[in-house]
Amino acid sequence: MIRTLLVGLLLAAVGFAAGRHAGRDAAAAVVVPRPAAAHAATAPGGTAAQPIRSVAGPAGPHVVTVEEGDSIQAAVGAAQPGTTIRIMPGTYRESVYIDKDNIRLVGVIEAGKRPVLDGGGTLNDAILYSGNNVVVENLELRAYKGNGIMGQAGNNFEIRNNVVVDTGVYGIFPQLGQNGIVEYNVVSGIADAAIYVGMSDNIHVAHNEVFDSVAGIEIENSRHAIVENNYVHDNAGGLLAFITPGLPIKTTFDVVFRHNFVVRNNHVNFAAPGSTVAGIPSGTGILVMAADDVVIEGNIISDNKAIGVLIVDHAHAANITADPESDPNSDRVAILDNVMLHNGYDTIPEVKALLLSELKGGDVDIARAGPSPGSCIRERERYVTAGVGDFAECGFSDTADRITYLLPPVPPRTIELAERGKVAYLGVCSGCHLYNGRLIGPPVQAIQALYLDDPQGLADYIAKPVRKRPDFPEMPPQDYLDPQTRLEVAKYMLALTR
Ligand code: HEC
Repeated sequence: MIRTLLVGLLLAAVGFAAGRHAGRDAAAAVVVPRPAAAHAATAPGGTAAQPIRSVAGPAGPHVVTVEEGDSIQAAVGAAQPGTTIRIMPGTYRESVYIDKDNIRLVGVIEAGKRPVLDGGGTLNDAILYSGNNVVVENLELRAYKGNGIMGQAGNNFEIRNNVVVDTGVYGIFPQLGQNGIVEYNVVSGIADAAIYVGMSDNIHVAHNEVFDSVAGIEIENSRHAIVENNYVHDNAGGLLAFITPGLPIKTTFDVVFRHNFVVRNNHVNFAAPGSTVAGIPSGTGILVMAADDVVIEGNIISDNKAIGVLIVDHAHAANITADPESDPNSDRVAILDNVMLHNGYDTIPEVKALLLSELKGGDVDIARAGPSPGSCIRERERYVTAGVGDFAECGFSDTADRITYLLPPVPPRTIELAERGKVAYLGVCSGCHLYNGRLIGPPVQAIQALYLDDPQGLADYIAKPVRKRPDFPEMPPQDYLDPQTRLEVAKYMLALTR
């Protein structure tokens, strides 16, 4: 979620790109049969070693089959950890909550027909998981209001080969997870980010097609993410790496955007007015905002009308309240070899002004505003640039030594009872509520004033929210959280001091 985004240069937005690179190592990372793609490598930091086909571990011993007319949620409710739930083609009108470990939802595709979860424009989420080692494959999700697939604090997830259409605010949204794969999904028509990796670590986003959304792929307050071989087209903004200030995790670093097609991201920005992504200028290929150690390598970045690659700090972002605990600058951005064609042909005034100040004109591929210490660029003469005069020549040419940041399955988070409120807050509520600013919902401070000594009242509200503020969207019910967790999260929210 991006809150207000963008750029200041005034209002600009996010994008990222990577370039071309013809390496045999890169090829090794890419050639993979589906559904179990091999992501070579294991060591933290991405040293190549053994291929990793899966982060969720082997499938468990139990298999159940759900047919059209059955409830997927009932199957999940009855399943013990280690169950694969096969979902036959047909239409399912429900929201599915997975709050246990080692559950696989696997669609069965017959003659091109997938199982379809249809929210009918009224249900909030299609699939919400908080368990570890969860796999979601081969489904089609349509017409939800909130999220297609949202993860909260689940580790070792695999989200693969799904079609996600018009599922509201986010398409695929793992939050607070470690060690996850998002690959071979086709996601479109999303009012915020099609794929949104939030507050997560060790993530691989590959071979997806994302289009007709406000933001294509967003890496936010996350570390160690590789985003490669994706087709990112016809969004308002394509690839984004940034820090949203005010969230509990304060950094974004080690993000590799490589070998993606970032093309024609000129869609009208149809984000909810006031949302952060509403500030992304239509026509942004790649945006880096306050993220560190971002590499843009081997991408084809073309026909993005505002700019190919935009690098900004928080000071140049509109509607961003600085967070003293987050470094506002984009440090050590590396722009390696990319193919950039016909970008910035209808750019925003701020970029035009930057260009003019360097006595340049014309279409513009790359612009930078605000400090980005330690940044570098290879063969800058290939691009039309504004504001990157102080970038050094890069001391490296590719990221072939970083095949993946994935790890062998990591231990589940253990969540003590005392921690449940905090985890639910960070995993769910903080996606929409900020302590002292408007996000999707009202600020926590305003909520505290309403519910002071009444955590039970707050807990009751979130189970069955009613519409209160005409200028906000509706809050989705949180009734999938058990009553005890609702009370714990209420207490946690009321006790926050920042
Ligand atoms: C998808 C976004 C979203 C999520 C997730 C979310 N909220 Fe909200 N919340 C909202 C919106 C929007 C409103 C304003 C609704 C209105 O005023 O009609 C709201 C309002 C509230 C209110 C105000 C109630 C009142 O009486 O005015 C409380 C309390 C609240 N949320 C608590 C929570 C808690 C606790 C969580 C996490 C378990 C949570 N919210 C998760 C969007 C969200």
